[in-house]
Amino acid sequence: MNIAIFVSGRGSNLEAILKAKKQGFLTSDFIVISNNKQAKAIDIAKDYNTEVFYFDQKPKRLFEENVLRLLKEKNVDFIVLAGFMAILSGDFIKAYPQRIINIHPSLLPAFKGINVHKRVIESGVKYTGATVHFVTEDIDAGCIIAQTISPIDPSDTENTLEQKILNLEHKLLPQVIRWIEQNRVSVKDKKAYVKGASYNCLQFTPCLEESF
Ligand code: GRF
Repeated sequence: MNIAIFVSGRGSNLEAILKAKKQGFLTSDFIVISNNKQAKAIDIAKDYNTEVFYFDQKPKRLFEENVLRLLKEKNVDFIVLAGFMAILSGDFIKAYPQRIINIHPSLLPAFKGINVHKRVIESGVKYTGATVHFVTEDIDAGCIIAQTISPIDPSDTENTLEQKILNLEHKLLPQVIRWIEQNRVSVKDKKAYVKGASYNCLQFTPCLEESF
């Protein structure tokens, strides 16, 4: 597959994907698109010899036109939002129906939006996690493909929790991309299914069936 990864910042999920590709866990060809000229993710893409493109996100209409043109030119068939801090328009999403996924650092539908870990800690919940879901016009609300969970320690701070969840994200996102490469993800009645995937999460480990 030809997959475009959209980024805006640090790029640790991007790095997890490119590492997985380097190790042969993923087989797609990747390009990277950033809406932030200063994003560390741009350097990461270059370190992994991956083509990277920057587009000014304003005005949004022009940004999306430019990106769509590039995606067409590069025959991109799937999009992964990995820390992409902008909201795509309905028209853009319609151009890739059920072909855009996002990773969010909470157990959706709880804690949509930003400042997730701070709100999680303040709420007093005992478990949190990460979610990979399809992107729809409603933010963080598309159907859920996979989740991982982590207990919250009373001593956890916003920072320690972020790091714990990021470590899980770095396993979860490549796994979901692999399922997509294997054509195992489908949607029926607004629910996503992964053919043959094991969802045994009896321990507090990611629900992953493969390790790399
Ligand atoms: C991650 O926590 C991801 O779940 C969220 O934004 C953050 C991006 O981090 N959507 P990075 O840029 O991949 O390091």
